[in-house]
Formats: sequence, structure tokens, C-alpha cells
Amino acid sequence: MTPTSGRRLPWDWYDGAIPANVHVSSSAYVETAYSFALCRSSRIGAVMIGDGASTYLGTMFDVGPEGRVTLGEYTLVHGARIICDREVSIGDYALVSWNVVLMDTYRVPFDPEARRRAVRAVPTGQPRRLDHGGPGRPIRIGRAAWIGFDSCVLPGVTIGEGAVVGARSVVTDDVAPFTIVAGNPARLVRRLTAQEMADGR
Ligand SMILES: CC(C)(COP(=O)(O)OP(=O)(O)OC[C@H]1O[C@@H](n2cnc3c(N)ncnc32)[C@H](O)[C@@H]1OP(=O)(O)O)[C@@H](O)C(=O)NCCC(=O)NCCS
Repeated sequence: MTPTSGRRLPWDWYDGAIPANVHVSSSAYVETAYSFALCRSSRIGAVMIGDGASTYLGTMFDVGPEGRVTLGEYTLVHGARIICDREVSIGDYALVSWNVVLMDTYRVPFDPEARRRAVRAVPTGQPRRLDHGGPGRPIRIGRAAWIGFDSCVLPGVTIGEGAVVGARSVVTDDVAPFTIVAGNPARLVRRLTAQEMADGR
């Protein structure tokens, strides 16, 4: 991966640069640097975008100070929100569709009084937003997995190689490789056939 970071994209409508600690392969495509407007990670390689990967309009890397997001080779992210305080990794050839939310952290305290305190801190916060952070539990999306539109993947979930998540699913548990899951909560629809698995490899 050849890093081409800290640069402006010649085709971009947004007047901002890709952060210096974000690494984009020279053969990857990032539609707009606005995708990194919420990236506050101080890690080296806060976001790593692999060879031939693409991220399109609407994709947001909402990455907290300790977070790291990795996109493998030929990964395609078509307008997802990736909320990461720890680690989100998306494998080679994986497809993440429109309006998908991948969150390795809930960002908001569960305790009601702590939640009220967090909300009261918003008006005087800099920047003015609810950003409580959290420990985070890694999300791992396997090679050639496909996440259907409007789906949500919750903290700690691993989605296996070649798995398919149906549109508008809420994925609360790990998904076995080469299976189709769907619904809220996402449940097994079926296993891929041997032929489908062979085609996908
Ligand atoms: C998951 C998906 C690929 C499955 O397709 P399929 O193998 O043709 O599955 P079927 O349509 O035969 O459905 C099988 C069962 O799963 C259910 N099902 C399928 N997709 C579902 C979904 N998104 N949510 C809930 N249930 C779903 C069907 O109702 C059916 O249930 P039944 O057996 O009780 O009747 C497809 O339904 C889907 O959601 N595709 C998403 C496409 C997408 O996001 N495209 C964006 C471009 S990247």
C-alpha cells in the first residue's frame, strides 16, 4: 500500500484534506475528504484504505481518539457510517451498502443520569456534540462479506468470510462464514451452497 495522505482530492467539492494519519492506497478511490470530518483518532494509520478499495459519498469515518479502521483490498463502502472507538476492520472484497451503520461503541452512557450529564455538557462542549466515547468492542467483517443497505452491526460482532447480511438487518451476534442472515435481530436464512461458496472464492 502506497500512502498518499494529507492531500486534497482534485475532484472534491469539500474544501478539506485527508488527515495526515489516514493512509489511502494510490489505487484506492475516496470520493470526498469530507468522509474524514469526524475522524479524531490520534493513532498512526487511524484509517487504512487498501489497494483498489473505494469509499463513496455519505461514508463517514466517525473515529474516536483511540480508534482504527481498516479497509482491505477492493473493499467497497457505499455511504456507510463507521463509528469506531477501538477497531473496525473490513476484509478484502467486502461490500458495505448504503446507510449501513457499523458501531464498535455506543457513545452514550447507559445510565440515565450519566446520559443527562452528557447532554448538559453539549452546549459548552468544543466541538458542540454528544461524544462520550467508550471502550468499544471490535467489529470484524470478513473477506467478501456483503452487508445489505440500512443494516446495523453492533459492537463486538464478527461477520464471517463470504457472509451476506440482508437489507435492514440489525446484527447483534457473530455471523458464520458463508451464511445469509436477515432481520432484527438478524437470524440465519440459509447457508450458501457449495457452488455459491466456490464462486465467491
Ligand atoms: C439477503 C438477500 C440477498 C437474500 O436473497 P435471497 O437468497 O434471494 O433470499 P429470499 O428472497 O429467497 O428470502 C429467503 C428468506 O429470507 C427472508 N429475507 C430475505 N431478505 C430479508 C431481509 N432483508 N430482511 C428480512 N427477511 C429477509 C425472506 O422473507 C425469506 O423468508 P421465508 O423463507 O420465511 O419466506 C436479499 O433479500 C437482500 O436483503 N439483499 C440486499 C440487497 C442490497 O442491500 N443491495 C444493495 C446494493 S450493494
